[in-house]
Amino acid sequence: MSEQKATNVTWHDHTVSTDDRAKLNKHKSAVLWFTGLSACGKSTVANTVDHILHEKGIHTFVLDGDNVRMGLNKNLGFSAEDRTENIRRIGEVAKLFCESGALVLTAFISPYRADRDSAREILNDGQFIEVYVNASLETCEARDPKGLYKKARAGEIKGFTGIDDPYEEPTKAELVLDADNKSIDDLAQEVVAYLESNGYLAV
Ligand code: ADX
Repeated sequence: MSEQKATNVTWHDHTVSTDDRAKLNKHKSAVLWFTGLSACGKSTVANTVDHILHEKGIHTFVLDGDNVRMGLNKNLGFSAEDRTENIRRIGEVAKLFCESGALVLTAFISPYRADRDSAREILNDGQFIEVYVNASLETCEARDPKGLYKKARAGEIKGFTGIDDPYEEPTKAELVLDADNKSIDDLAQEVVAYLESNGYLAV
């Protein structure tokens, strides 16, 4: 599905480089790749970080699971093949935003390690920051904000991540957030602190 079909296409380098854009923005660009079970808090933490960074004058943008699946990826479901294609497209879109100078925040389950690694590989060193929002299945299922775990347990949804579909935990995440025990605000501050101490918020 992801092999290149087009022939006779030529890569054009941008005249304005990503470094030039970083100088203009006064911060680096990168992709904060949030991964974790449904209802672990990925989107909420990503949006809280987005708000904090925006207030600091950082150019940010959130790509969020359910929203992207209503547009760009509306032809994709939840089979292994479709999830891989979902993540491949999001990786490419995140890369484009990153090249435009933004700090991108993506919030997708992204259950397969190989798919997350592929997204990492298309970016430069240091541009991919994997953030594992680590909440136990028990926590996510107890929250169940959309009632999907209940449906999955009842057999009304097949292949639901964590119930009858796999989630491969990250083994080399830059950040692991303890979403079972800490508040959203504390987790968001951990992410901002990581960006600050690793020099992302300055040029
Ligand atoms: S991913 O696996 O391809 O990365 P993505 O993050 O885009 O998933 O979408 C997950 C969201 O879709 C969940 O938060 C939930 O609202 C919804 N959803 C619907 N069906 C499923 C399913 N079978 N497994 C997981 N999430 C599902």
